[in-house]
Amino acid sequence: CGIVGYVGSQSALDVVMAGLKRLEYRGYDSAGVAVLADGGLAPAKRAGKLVNLEKELAEHPLPAGTTGIGHTRWATHGGPTDANAHPHLDNAGRVAVVHNGIIENFAALRAELAGRGHDLASETDTEVVAHLLAEEFSACADLAEAMRLVCRRLEGAFTLVAVHADEPGVVVGARRNSPLVVGVGEGESFLASDVAAFIAHTREALELGQDQVVELSRDGVTVTGFDGSPAEVRAYHVDWDASAAEKGGHASFMLKEIAEQPKAVADTLLGRIDAEGSLTLDEVRIPAHELRETDKVVIVACGTAFHAGLIAKYAIEHWTRIPCEVELASEFRYRDPILDQRSLVIAISQSGETMDTLMAVRHAREQGSKVLAICNTNGSTIPRESDAVLYTHAGPEVAVASTKAFLTQLVACYLVALYLGQVRGTKWGDEIRAVIRDLAGIGQAVERVLGTMEPVRELARSLAGQDTVLFLGRHVGYPVALEGALKLKELAYMHAEGFAAGELKHGPIALIEEGLPVVVVVPSPRGRSVLHDKLVSNIQEIRARGARTVVIAEEGDETVTPYADHLVRIPATPTLLQPLVATVPLQVFACELATARGNEVDQPRNLAKSVTVE
Ligand code: G6P
Repeated sequence: CGIVGYVGSQSALDVVMAGLKRLEYRGYDSAGVAVLADGGLAPAKRAGKLVNLEKELAEHPLPAGTTGIGHTRWATHGGPTDANAHPHLDNAGRVAVVHNGIIENFAALRAELAGRGHDLASETDTEVVAHLLAEEFSACADLAEAMRLVCRRLEGAFTLVAVHADEPGVVVGARRNSPLVVGVGEGESFLASDVAAFIAHTREALELGQDQVVELSRDGVTVTGFDGSPAEVRAYHVDWDASAAEKGGHASFMLKEIAEQPKAVADTLLGRIDAEGSLTLDEVRIPAHELRETDKVVIVACGTAFHAGLIAKYAIEHWTRIPCEVELASEFRYRDPILDQRSLVIAISQSGETMDTLMAVRHAREQGSKVLAICNTNGSTIPRESDAVLYTHAGPEVAVASTKAFLTQLVACYLVALYLGQVRGTKWGDEIRAVIRDLAGIGQAVERVLGTMEPVRELARSLAGQDTVLFLGRHVGYPVALEGALKLKELAYMHAEGFAAGELKHGPIALIEEGLPVVVVVPSPRGRSVLHDKLVSNIQEIRARGARTVVIAEEGDETVTPYADHLVRIPATPTLLQPLVATVPLQVFACELATARGNEVDQPRNLAKSVTVE
């Protein structure tokens, strides 16, 4: 979910609505606002996307006020209805609360409130907070204090923002686990799940820590712990501006972000490889002697970031000879993984706030392992709780389906793998030297791929009526196939599966029928040519059974030509780097196919970009 709070001299409604627009990527099942005006509280909320709320506000305008809060929801407790939309109010309609996370003991609290005569209107866990705040406020007449008292009773993960009609000019926020940042302006203050919500007003931000309560007024910001003790907060300056979070002439954020990949990749490499081909990763503050003693690498991540992790395994094991496991973060801690001080855990997360990944990080640290985060969001929770972080410099990624963040995650993974090799004294052979050289030029290779995508778009449009598309790959091409299938599921809502090409004959080949589109990622014919030749055989097997083959192969590889109904060319790269160029056509393919099916690519149904619940 996305949360915004504002107090200052501008129209709170305008500021909050503009903020919600920027946070819609976090959830778009419903949206709502509340403004303090004329001694009272004026709420409005609607199921569905923000436009529904905009329409509602146009038909039934709220009174003008300069203190307000807002929310855009990804439903957890209770379906996406008007009644379940935030904000939630107490019975007297004096307190309004918005919430991100899950309050685990809400059923007990709800029963307790009902016992005291409270009438709860929604199915959400959030509503109990409004009622509890109203009770506490009536005793202490101080919203921040009421919030501290209530938070001490809540279990689970939550970020809350509240206003009270009897304390106009004040917005109070509380944070446990889910993110909340403060924006500090001149005579105005902001609260939001992400700086993007207030970047148009100020680039000065404060990072709230775990279990802190913040009180915002026009005069400034006060932060305390849940127990009332004064808290230290870190101030920082946001190094990008509002234009970075706008579409800039593209039809969608996704198209813009696909187009930004050459730069994102180059920015992530910048300053990290010197002229001699040595790596300088000063951010990796884990002492070299500990990295030399590492006997196992475990990668944890979700969704697209997990696919980056699967590819990283090939690079880490091949270049460093350290065994590497990759695990879905949501599965990790529940199976009691074997970890100790000599395990290096790498957590990959664009947002740095995915709850599954965060919980995996905490579990790893509890076992004494070192955690290195690969993250795109400065100051977010996962890097803060890790021993070290390597930032990807993709810039803000807004579209829900990840593109440029994925490519930069790959680059960061390669850098970490090479760095581990360097620290541990791996002999730098010709192969690794070639990789480093090619990595430096990879932005241009991605640029070239982008320049040749028109036939891919055309093909995608022609497949808009299909029900199923399969993706095949081997070696690092296998995770690429998984990513291609995930993109198609996310965006086009089609049945799409990625398979290891060699596994096909053990079952999935039964799916092949006349005309079924199968996208095949072909490894480079140079280097490990056995791999290439095996895959060419796999293409023949599916073609013999009627598949319509879409073959992604290196420029100059003519062996595949006879078996390709559609041929997509990518620049030659060392095998391990191929995912950086091979993924791009799959992103374009999914984006175009989804558009042809009338889907909105930036905000696919049921999804959210940052999932801050487990
Ligand atoms: C969500 C998004 C995915 C993303 C995943 C992990 O499910 O919809 O696109 O890959 O979270 O996100 P992270 O921010 O941890 O990389």
